Amino acid sequence: MPRSSLIDQPAMQGNGFYNKNSELQEAGIERLISLWKNLVDTINLTTRAAVIADYASSQGKNSLLPINIALNSILSRDLKPNSISVIHTDLPSNDFSSLFEMIEKNEKSYLKNHANIFPFAVGRSYFETILPLNSVDIGWNSWSLQWLSVSPGNIDDHIFIDCSKNTNLKKLFSHQLAVDWAQFLRCRSNELKCGGKLMTIFIASRNDAGGWGPFWNEFWLTLLDLRNCDLLSDIELSLISLPIGVRSLDEIEDPFRKSNIFANLKLERLDIIEAPDPFWDEYQITQDRITYGHRWANMAKAVAGPVITNVLHNSENTKCTLSDIITRFAERLSSNPFKVTHSLASVVLEKVTHTG
Ligand SMILES: C[S@@+](CC[C@H](N)C(=O)[O-])C[C@H]1O[C@@H](n2cnc3c(N)ncnc32)[C@H](O)[C@@H]1O
Repeated sequence: MPRSSLIDQPAMQGNGFYNKNSELQEAGIERLISLWKNLVDTINLTTRAAVIADYASSQGKNSLLPINIALNSILSRDLKPNSISVIHTDLPSNDFSSLFEMIEKNEKSYLKNHANIFPFAVGRSYFETILPLNSVDIGWNSWSLQWLSVSPGNIDDHIFIDCSKNTNLKKLFSHQLAVDWAQFLRCRSNELKCGGKLMTIFIASRNDAGGWGPFWNEFWLTLLDLRNCDLLSDIELSLISLPIGVRSLDEIEDPFRKSNIFANLKLERLDIIEAPDPFWDEYQITQDRITYGHRWANMAKAVAGPVITNVLHNSENTKCTLSDIITRFAERLSSNPFKVTHSLASVVLEKVTHTG
């Protein structure tokens, strides 16, 4: 895979925007956190210097809960580590300044309650081995593996591949999802110590549940409105597409099908759950349509804003801004609130053989 495609991929909306608008992701993490607690409680630390890796931290706020849980678990043991490294990783374009500031200042930061904890950050794609071999005790990863390492192509007729009618392109997306999953597993396996464990949470599909189609379809209809008002060009419309995809249970299990072990990683547990929609829940109580629309639109801006901004910046004579799109999208959602029914996969893995 060409390295440039990994480096060029934009991260989340910067200046701390993702931290302020990621309650959806936070709610999903909270729903699955008991599995993480079980995982960290069963980790057998083999040295007095423990290493926790947080893959795709973004600006870090949603990492605080899992990291605090890991620290509480390993620091409550009779034989405590002397020092603990917490390594946050993300793409080079990530807003690491917000991450470092948040770690220093946030009331819930793991630095507030513990001594001898040392945060680090790595700005490289996790589709490469980015940490020393056999060095990580515990790995956490949430809400990132839907992003592909490279876009298989523009989705001309939508923003989201599941809603496209282009069956060839859909196959290319599915293929890339499989390649990336296997590559992610190989790289994490290199980095984990033998006996070390990794939990990853990412969006998934279930046959019986709605999925992200209806949500991104509202976004697409917003873009079409802007096109009809001559604020977006046909070219801009065709270039705005998300390099993301959703895996099914079968696709997640696939590398493990033969022996339950892939790349020295044993599949300990795989769950797919219905994920929460905190904005809908809030709307049920307040009946405040405007806030509902803003919250969902800001979530979309936090994750998709940089992809859209790239298109608009590179387009000649653009008449539209990201803010125009998000404002229209919020209005659209406010006019017809609905529950976004979506699913999350959670995968627990243990490294079973030392990397030689
Ligand atoms: C939706 S955010 C999730 C952030 C945080 N983990 C959470 O749960 O809220 C997705 C993150 O994945 C990162 N990401 C996407 N592809 C990546 C890659 N190849 N390597 C490292 N990070 C990546 C993005 O930059 C972004 O910060």
